[in-house]
Amino acid sequence: MLDLSKQYATIEKEVLREIAKVCKSQWFVLGKHVKGLEEEIAKYTGAKYAIGVSSGSDAITIALMALGIGKGDEVITTPYTFFSTAGSIALVGAKAVFVDIDPVTYNIDVDAIEGALERDKKRRRIKAIMPVHLYGQAADMTKINALARKYGVKVIEDAAQAIGATYKSKGAGSLGTIGCFSFYPTKNLGGFGDAGMVTTNNKALAKKLSMLRVHGSSRRYYHDLVGMNGRLDEIQAVVLRIKLKKLDKWSRARKKNAALYAKLFKAEGLLEKVTPPVEDSDCGHVYNQYVIRAKKRDALKDYLAKNGVGSDIYYPVPLHLQACFKDWGYKKGSFPVSEGAARETLALPIYPELTVKEIEYVVATIKKFYS
Ligand SMILES: Cc1ncc(COP(=O)(O)O)c(C=O)c1O
Repeated sequence: MLDLSKQYATIEKEVLREIAKVCKSQWFVLGKHVKGLEEEIAKYTGAKYAIGVSSGSDAITIALMALGIGKGDEVITTPYTFFSTAGSIALVGAKAVFVDIDPVTYNIDVDAIEGALERDKKRRRIKAIMPVHLYGQAADMTKINALARKYGVKVIEDAAQAIGATYKSKGAGSLGTIGCFSFYPTKNLGGFGDAGMVTTNNKALAKKLSMLRVHGSSRRYYHDLVGMNGRLDEIQAVVLRIKLKKLDKWSRARKKNAALYAKLFKAEGLLEKVTPPVEDSDCGHVYNQYVIRAKKRDALKDYLAKNGVGSDIYYPVPLHLQACFKDWGYKKGSFPVSEGAARETLALPIYPELTVKEIEYVVATIKKFYS
């Protein structure tokens, strides 16, 4: 499904040399590489400010804290995403107001967002919308930002899977109030452990975010806010800076792989059985995942595994059905499009170093399964 060692081999020398320098310096947390990475990510995404944090999950938690979202507040998001989108909302004491997804892009259904905001008009508990740029494709940010303005709420982009993705030529993470990135090793820009970043165009928020990641302090041992230990370390930052230089090239390779899959599915007459991902014309997709909708999904997954092809299910249980969120009161059937996607979708290998032969083998194996 993902072979990180192929990519590592191409940068190993530089990475080891730079890590050795960090070790020599014995400066491990929030140093010159974190600062350098922050400047480079701000430039890369087009956001004015970027603040390095310890993970994508912490990025979301710190973003919510910076906006003062907590007990009694609510945040609109999608149930078809990685756990921490909603987990962070729960951690700060707020509630996720789930709305269903679009069946084609799997991103949040913008038409359903307005309904939720309308229902909240009297109580005004909803403080933010948190779209997820799922699999590397941005959500419909024009409509989301318009709704946010109309109803006076903030927008937190969960851009964990979307570094380098664009919406109407603007970078993911620069489009809402705060953007949140993950640099978990499987992401398009992956560290050698956990790492993340928050981005914003608002100077005051940038200051608050950078304080919140160090226990709410901007001066050692003086705490104006209650924050957390959400710091980024130098070894992650130096690795990420090396990888960032190659990211556009790797994203292009992912796109090329996606195009080849789509071409082969068509050529092999498989489009009755599998639905390839659809690129929205407003979006520059970076394919953190290549997710198809497939007939007899589970049997296909087993068959692929037996024939040496890795695949994965993102996500088998939508978040409204997770045991830990049962008090929020959602039931099976609450979000049929998300539940359908959870039953029918399958992620295929897409990483940049995949060869044409490997992709042809994956498609040939899928063809065999259905014939
Ligand atoms: C959509 C989404 N949100 C949040 C996260 C959390 O990021 P991390 O694993 O770095 O905490 C991830 C990554 O797994 C993700 O895919």
